[in-house]
Amino acid sequence: MKKKIISILATASVLALGAAAALWAAVPPPPVNQNLFIYDTSFTSFTVVNCLECHAPGVTDPTQIVPALEARHHALLVSVTPQPSCINASGVLPSTLATGCHILVPNPAGGFTIQDPTNCLNCHTSSPHHTTTFAAARDCKHCHGAAIDNPLDGHYIPSYPMNTAFGGVTPGPVGRTVANPAAPGTTIIVQGCAACHQAAPAATPKAIFGNQDTHHGTGIGQGAPGSIGECQWCHGTGANSFTIRACEACHGVNSLHSIQFDSPAAANLGSIVPGNESLGYGHIGNNWDCQGCHFSWTGTSTGLTTATVPAISGQNSKVFTAGKAATLIITGNSFVNVGDDGSTTYNPVVTLTSSGITTTLTPFSKTVSEIQVALPSTLPIGVYEVRVDKNGTVSNLAKLVVAPELAITSAVLSSQTLTIVGKGFGSAPSADFKSRLNVSVNGVQAKVISWSDTKIVATSANAGAGKTVTVNTLYGPAASNIFAAAKKVR
Ligand code: HEC
Ligand code: HEC
Ligand code: HEC
Ligand code: HEC
Ligand code: HEC
Ligand code: HEC
Ligand code: HEC
Repeated sequence: MKKKIISILATASVLALGAAAALWAAVPPPPVNQNLFIYDTSFTSFTVVNCLECHAPGVTDPTQIVPALEARHHALLVSVTPQPSCINASGVLPSTLATGCHILVPNPAGGFTIQDPTNCLNCHTSSPHHTTTFAAARDCKHCHGAAIDNPLDGHYIPSYPMNTAFGGVTPGPVGRTVANPAAPGTTIIVQGCAACHQAAPAATPKAIFGNQDTHHGTGIGQGAPGSIGECQWCHGTGANSFTIRACEACHGVNSLHSIQFDSPAAANLGSIVPGNESLGYGHIGNNWDCQGCHFSWTGTSTGLTTATVPAISGQNSKVFTAGKAATLIITGNSFVNVGDDGSTTYNPVVTLTSSGITTTLTPFSKTVSEIQVALPSTLPIGVYEVRVDKNGTVSNLAKLVVAPELAITSAVLSSQTLTIVGKGFGSAPSADFKSRLNVSVNGVQAKVISWSDTKIVATSANAGAGKTVTVNTLYGPAASNIFAAAKKVR
């Protein structure tokens, strides 16, 4: 295989070169770093471990998967009317809200067990992301943020003639293959996306895919069951077929000119300053970056870059307790930047959206890679879309759940009858869920007599003063010491 290395030429002299190792974190590219947004791979290569990386960051212990995702799933119970069935009695797979969720698997020894809820792929059998109503409506920004433009939003696409030849301003979807002046006998790709964005099968922690595979891997346009879209969404029609004009439906000039990671450039570490970053960390950090798409373009136009696109990669927690103020810490990059006028600073706000209502919060602390914002105690229970917004340039999508406060205020034992008072227990779970939603004393299940959101009465031969009672609710467990009832005084 030919080794393709980007080299960018300034008229006659070679500015930056070097045999880029086919490893992640290669600077200069190719391949590009994987600091921003989605790792360049394909859905077919995702495993449960990868689902967890985004949906339950930090969870590697299999016993922690259910606690990490149950709030998110069980919040769906109140999202549709009529309430979905906990049991998928239809026998139809994959289970959905319409069929009911959990499959009861007959146990050879008699009775039933619940199908392993930690294997996401039991129920989510194909890319759930690109069959959503948002994807079907080509609202790709809903999740991907301003890293791209939406095809139907009327953004600027040049109407001047394309010029992908030497000296032209127009990059190609791939680029031009030219002789590599630094290594005679080899070739390089210039003036196109593949000048930098190339596959790197040996990259760590996982293989980096080429642009054709990352895009086709979404299933969009492929007519597979449940798939959406068509080839033209990306490849255009007529004169625009297979040209950059088709790609510009999503990769418009403005979004391309707003993608940048904070490079290690010492002069401005902690902020992004277009044109003054080290080369190879994005699209607008360095003259070298401009030339990757424009090849011989040597201009330093102003007025191209305002707010760079903020990229969320993590958060301190995905579940918060209703009625309690808390701090949400968002990690990522490009949260603050200076415009290309060299003076305007672009600062972030955090937006939380649920049921169509958006709350805008101003962070009390912000750096290029971390935002800290106070979550008010008044946030209603629900699932929220979380975005970082810099003057309307929005990040990719993250989520958080505000779950009911869960607490045991007293657990009193009176002749083997345990009365537990508190809040957030939810409504009485059906008998099928006894193995997960229950009351236990030092790990041994008690017999539930009555169950309401604030009070549970149970009997247990095992109960005793000083032992621990645990209530396993839809939103997680709550535990307390057991006290003996005070002796009645006449
Ligand atoms: C519900 C959120 C969501 C929506 C809406 C969405 N995507 Fe994605 N997209 C993802 C996620 C998550 C991934 C990575 C996992 C996967 O491939 O399913 C991804 C991956 C991709 C990739 C591969 C990126 C890479 O670096 O590997 C492309 C290309 C892509 N999406 C295109 C689109 C297009 C085009 C649309 C609109 C028609 C769209 N997406 C809408 C969430 C979304
Ligand atoms: C690169 C990060 C990423 C990976 C990997 C990923 N997801 Fe997602 N997923 C998202 C984002 C972002 C959304 C949209 C916000 C949300 O709903 O959390 C989403 C949404 C979803 C949704 C909701 C779709 C809808 O109908 O709204 C499901 C279901 C889902 N993901 C399942 C999975 C499963 C299963 C896997 C593993 C096979 C997986 N995801 C891997 C980021 C990811
Ligand atoms: C028992 C079946 C089942 C299993 C197992 C399962 N899910 Fe789901 N999940 C669902 C259903 C059903 C929905 C609702 C989808 C819909 O709206 O059609 C859902 C929704 C989601 C959502 C979106 C929730 C929202 O707010 O809309 C995410 C994210 C998600 N699942 C991730 C995961 C991940 C990650 C795993 C593995 C750890 C997993 N799921 C395992 C059935 C399952
Ligand atoms: C000069 C090298 C170079 C060229 C040429 C280039 N890019 Fe990039 N691009 C980068 C770097 C570096 C990043 C940041 C990657 C990271 O750290 O995640 C990036 C990030 C992106 C992102 C953000 C999503 C992601 O996966 O990080 C998109 C979208 C993107 N490029 C699209 C394009 C398109 C479309 C073209 C062709 C018109 C192109 N790029 C050409 C260097 C380049
Ligand atoms: C989500 C966007 C997207 C969709 C949808 C899509 N493609 Fe692609 N396709 C790409 C990208 C990106 C490339 C790599 C750049 C290139 O080669 O032009 C590519 C490359 C190709 C190539 C290689 C072109 C060349 O010049 O070597 C062919 C052929 C192709 N696609 C056909 C299809 C067909 C047929 C469909 C529909 C079944 C389709 N594509 C759907 C994004 C897409
Ligand atoms: C319908 C929207 C859409 C079209 C059209 C489209 N892309 Fe993309 N492209 C995306 C999305 C979404 C991403 C993923 C951004 C992210 O990482 O969140 C992406 C990412 C990229 C990246 C960055 C590397 C990566 O895989 O993340 C390159 C390079 C790229 N596209 C090239 C192309 C080329 C070349 C074409 C035209 C053949 C094209 N795209 C057409 C939506 C589109
Ligand atoms: C990721 C690819 C990419 C990078 C990197 C990039 N541009 Fe562009 N730029 C484009 C595309 C695509 C166009 C539209 C060209 C076309 O469609 O013919 C464009 C157009 C332009 C134009 C023409 C004006 C316009 O709005 O149509 C100027 C000037 C320009 N770029 C300057 C720069 C400068 C300066 C840099 C570096 C700071 C830069 N570009 C980096 C992709 C890029």
